[in-house]
Amino acid sequence: MEYRYSERMAKMNGAATREILKLLTRPEIISFAGGFPATQCLPQKEVQEIAHELLSEGKATAVLQYGTTEGFVPFREELIKYVKTAGIENVSLDETLVISGGQQGIDLMSKIFLDKGDVVLVENPTYLTALQIFDSYQAKIVGVDADENGLKLDDLEEKIKKHHPKFIYVVSTFSNPTGKTYSIENRKQIAEITAKYGVMVLEDDPYSKLRFEGEWVPSIKSFDKAGNVVYLTSFSKVLSPGLRTGVAVGNKEVIRKLTIGKQGVDVTTSNLSQLIVAEYLKRGYLFPNIEKSLPIYRERKNAMIAAIQKYMPEEFSFINAQGGLFIWGGFDAPIDTTKLAPEAIKYDVAYIQGQVFYPNADVTNMIRLNFSNATVEKIDLGMSHLGEMFKKEIAKAKKA
Ligand SMILES: Cc1ncc(COP(=O)(O)O)c(C=O)c1O
Repeated sequence: MEYRYSERMAKMNGAATREILKLLTRPEIISFAGGFPATQCLPQKEVQEIAHELLSEGKATAVLQYGTTEGFVPFREELIKYVKTAGIENVSLDETLVISGGQQGIDLMSKIFLDKGDVVLVENPTYLTALQIFDSYQAKIVGVDADENGLKLDDLEEKIKKHHPKFIYVVSTFSNPTGKTYSIENRKQIAEITAKYGVMVLEDDPYSKLRFEGEWVPSIKSFDKAGNVVYLTSFSKVLSPGLRTGVAVGNKEVIRKLTIGKQGVDVTTSNLSQLIVAEYLKRGYLFPNIEKSLPIYRERKNAMIAAIQKYMPEEFSFINAQGGLFIWGGFDAPIDTTKLAPEAIKYDVAYIQGQVFYPNADVTNMIRLNFSNATVEKIDLGMSHLGEMFKKEIAKAKKA
């Protein structure tokens, strides 16, 4: 049988990290590759308590029936309170849409805004799966340069003028992969420049609550005066990725279009998940759980930094993130981290090569390391193996 796939599948091979991720099922492998929250941070007891109550109180209509695509109203009311913690005030119900995780928000934004050949601007580098989603809508992805303060605003403005993008996608706090956070001034300027040129902003914020150091910053959405920013947040990293819940907040006309887009995808986010998370928020469980999780992540991040300093070659430098789940670093040496990713598996350790996070660039010297899902002991052991491999490879490259 010759399967006549759509044109949009041509660029979607998903191969970049698949071989690595397949190997992760081997128990001896220490994985710094994924973006999983620590298992002990998943609040099993509280979720069990709520689910049990929901299913034993004759709430079959709420739990087992269809619900509206916009989402369960008491949940959306809780979400309006929740996004205030990102500085987003005065949100009305019709400016919210419950989504099945942040990823669905990225997909729906692409569905409602992108035609083949339309341009999306992204920070260079950015979240791999967002790139794959934009590719699936046959968009042209253009990278915007960034520094320690956030996007380089002259590059942003120049690329807006040149490419007339439909929207710009940013992970403004504890970015995946870099762990970087945009400064407040940078956020204000992004809101202003994009409003001036009538460009939408898709602000993706799964990580801002996972701050272990430094000062809180408001979202870009909080500076949105023109109604051009859609803000996404998700409960995957702070509660449970398995519950698949999040929210999109934006201008009500855009939210309406996103809702129409969602109808054809999953009708509604699972009622059970929505009710569980709504109750979880209402009972005030979320922030104590985050408070409990932060020392675990802080300890693991510090263990990874210490292990980098102990084991990695001197040619390696990295960004010490103030939160989130990742350390991003690179080698000032002629080595190819894409080619070496399968080699690392032979040393029983996995990382993600930096190349996959760039829309077009052939960057070969960067790596992303996740620290949230391995114990301190495993982090030390895994980094010692990785350091050994990279030192050998750099010595080889220098001889060649
Ligand atoms: C930047 C970013 N956005 C979105 C997601 C997707 O998360 P979810 O769909 O589980 O909310 C992730 C997950 O790793 C992410 O890193």
